[in-house]
Amino acid sequence: MRVTLTAIKADIGSIGGHIRPSASLLKEVERSLQPHLGSDFIDFRLSYTGDDIAILMTHTHGTDNPLIHQIAWDAFKAAADVAKKEGLYGAGQDLLKDAFSGNIRGLGPGIAEMEFEERKSEPFLLFAADKTDPGAFNLPLYLAFCDPMYCSGLLLSPNMFKGFKFEIMDVSYTEGDKVIALFAPEELYDIAALLRDPERYVVKAVYSRTTGEIAAVASTTRLHNIAGKYVGKDDPILLVRAQGSFPATGEILEPYALVPYVGGFMRGSHQGPLMPVKRNSSVSFFDGPPIVSCTAYCVKDGKLSEEADAFDHPFWDYVREIASKKAIELRRQGFYGNAMLPYGELEYGGIVERLKALEGKFEIRH
Ligand code: 13P
Ligand code: 13P
Ligand code: MG
Ligand code: MG
Ligand code: MG
Repeated sequence: MRVTLTAIKADIGSIGGHIRPSASLLKEVERSLQPHLGSDFIDFRLSYTGDDIAILMTHTHGTDNPLIHQIAWDAFKAAADVAKKEGLYGAGQDLLKDAFSGNIRGLGPGIAEMEFEERKSEPFLLFAADKTDPGAFNLPLYLAFCDPMYCSGLLLSPNMFKGFKFEIMDVSYTEGDKVIALFAPEELYDIAALLRDPERYVVKAVYSRTTGEIAAVASTTRLHNIAGKYVGKDDPILLVRAQGSFPATGEILEPYALVPYVGGFMRGSHQGPLMPVKRNSSVSFFDGPPIVSCTAYCVKDGKLSEEADAFDHPFWDYVREIASKKAIELRRQGFYGNAMLPYGELEYGGIVERLKALEGKFEIRH
């Protein structure tokens, strides 16, 4: 059957700063979704990563469906009211617009959706990150879909020999979606040339060149483009299909052992290592470090299997230690140089006023 996976996430308030949502917020989202189960959608799951709640829904309405988007929007709205009542921090933070007008894109929440014909077995992964932006998935996706050093299937599995198509978005463009399609392996250097700049170019989707099927889709919301000022980090989500003509689950996961430095961390203004964490983890040190969770599922006739927590394994305890070391190492230099993001990323925040005031005090000397 043709199924649609819709993953939508939002920060609607959290306990004690930007740490994690309260149990009552999650309960309210669930209460709001429950009446639609079995009628408007087939199945759903809830989870949180840091202070962001992710809703995963399965249904047959295709992508960009107004009803599905409305259901998620209403659930977040209802929970934001609970957050306000509880006095949680940043209540309704990612709900940037008041009114819903048919599509949740452009309203604040991050969304990743894909529609496909279910395979006999349909394993897929839901990644959710906090204290970082959509570019955080650039390197892991590049390595999993382009690099035989990470994806052995590119050498070993004939149904991957043709490679993958990348859709990459220029998120600095605000008039609409500015997207380029590039083909791996022939255009590998072009793909790398764009993905090296994760604040500007982000992977939107990946497709198999063997079957034409969608392999991965990420949320590309840049909140500061919508709000025009700093309103928290984008905290992206990503859906990836695994096995068969796609990389194996373990090949998709391997790049996360690199714990690359990504933009985000405290006040969304720093660099920090992307730490793979267990589901429903909070953040802590310097409002971070940036974290990513991964839940694995199979879907059959739209029904979701029990979930497997992909980063809940002794191997990743060791990786988390490496991430902690990398975080402490970079934090030692505080505001200096690469520890903080370049001005282009900070210009939506308060530093603009400080620098403007200083500009008037400069004098030109000859
Ligand atoms: P299993 O024999 O455990 O199914 O492993 C197959 C495989 O290809 C793992 O990548
Ligand atoms: P969030 O986007 O996760 O709310 O992060 C905001 C922040 O500024 C943390 O210091
Ligand atoms: Mg927050
Ligand atoms: Mg967040
Ligand atoms: Mg955020």
